[in-house]
Amino acid sequence: MLPVLADTREAEMDKLFIEGGRPLRGSVRISGAKNAALPLMTATLLAPGKHVLRNVPDLRDTRTLLKVMEEFGVTSEWEDDVLYIDSTELKHFEASYDLVRTMRASVLVLGPLVARLGRARVSRPGGCAIGDRPINLHLMGLEQLGATCLQENGYVDVKVDGRLRGNVIHFDIPSVTGTENLLMAATLAAGTTILKNAAREPEIGNLVDMLVGMGAQIEGRDTDELIVHGVEQLSPADCVIIPDRIEAGTYLIAIAATGGQGRVTHCKPEHLPALLNKLRAAGLIIEEGEDSIAISFSEGKGVADLECVDIKTMPYPGYATDLQAQFMTLMSLASGSSVINETIFENRFMHVAELERMNANIKIKGSSAVVTGKGRDGLVGAPVMATDLRASSSLVIAGLAASGITEIRRIYHLERGYEKLIDKLTGLGAKVWKESY
Ligand code: EPZ
Repeated sequence: MLPVLADTREAEMDKLFIEGGRPLRGSVRISGAKNAALPLMTATLLAPGKHVLRNVPDLRDTRTLLKVMEEFGVTSEWEDDVLYIDSTELKHFEASYDLVRTMRASVLVLGPLVARLGRARVSRPGGCAIGDRPINLHLMGLEQLGATCLQENGYVDVKVDGRLRGNVIHFDIPSVTGTENLLMAATLAAGTTILKNAAREPEIGNLVDMLVGMGAQIEGRDTDELIVHGVEQLSPADCVIIPDRIEAGTYLIAIAATGGQGRVTHCKPEHLPALLNKLRAAGLIIEEGEDSIAISFSEGKGVADLECVDIKTMPYPGYATDLQAQFMTLMSLASGSSVINETIFENRFMHVAELERMNANIKIKGSSAVVTGKGRDGLVGAPVMATDLRASSSLVIAGLAASGITEIRRIYHLERGYEKLIDKLTGLGAKVWKESY
């Protein structure tokens, strides 16, 4: 039986406490990827039957998505990290505001529902802390596949008579969930669809493998041009979720920020090219194994000896925007100054003011932040507020590295994307605990 996660309103009051200044040591096992599990779960809507997804992380977001899918008539069952989803009885096609507002990625039901049922009515996700997050590219693509998209009363109502029809779709921006939504829709369309300037994140490769395993015909895996030859029907899947590269990157940075030494296991080093290059450029020793990454300092060196390194977030294989905040914390501990340029989301510096409460020195200039590292002075524990998933993980890393106690509020953001965070950090020697009010 899975542990109960308090609902958001209750979780509002939960706080995470961290007694910092302890180098993290040892190894930590990485869970399945949130951003792969979500699209692969919605892909089960494409084919009636019992699907098997393995290595699924138990997170607030995967649970919320299950609730959304249960509204359509889907049933599901967990057995440890194996999720059985039965999508035989799809009776409804509406995803309500109450659920979608808590998790934007619910928009990923659009493509599969329209392809399978010819109809989908989904609450517009609206903006979030990191940006406006429009879905115009998703809707533009569905219209190019022959659907009509009506927007009224905060809902998007998408309809198609008969099957979707293949077409050439060019993305202005390589949207990750946009690519995933149209890829799934195109698998059951009549004819061939070509997705140009498509996103290439590893999570999309995981989705392609699942769909091909269900009988879809897709060419161009891992490239920015995906070619989908539509088929009449698909069969249930049995697939494995890839490791979470963002979780792996977060723990690598946490180990470095505390002056520690360790190994992240059950991950794919080849999914983190940009981060590993930046960590090496900062002076850290990185050893890549088959499915693990070890990180350490050279003899006699510590956090304050870290070189300052600039980063610019980019679509994959560039530096991941979901690892920007965590790297900013690391650079605020180094010696000298670095520039962090955020090019994906227009409002992804919410963590800056909170890090400054912990004695960091960061100046925002438009879409860049200039970080002047504290070196030997380091960061100081303080009460801070989590604003979004990755910002909250940057505050956890700051708390682990800081002297004294850090108190983080609104930690439900963390539970959305980090499985068993307290257990894993404690396993690395951290002193961290949660208090519910
Ligand atoms: C995915 O979001 C991830 N979420 C995000 O991770 C991640 O930050 C993002 O990709 C970028 O890597 C999931 O996979 C569930 P986008 P997504 O569409 O697909 C603009 C986390 O922390 N855009 O690639 O929503 C958009 O505003 C989350 O785990 C449009 O203009 O991101 C942004 O500026 C946060 N119109 C850019 O494209 C559209 O229709 C990239 O967004 C769609 C996107």
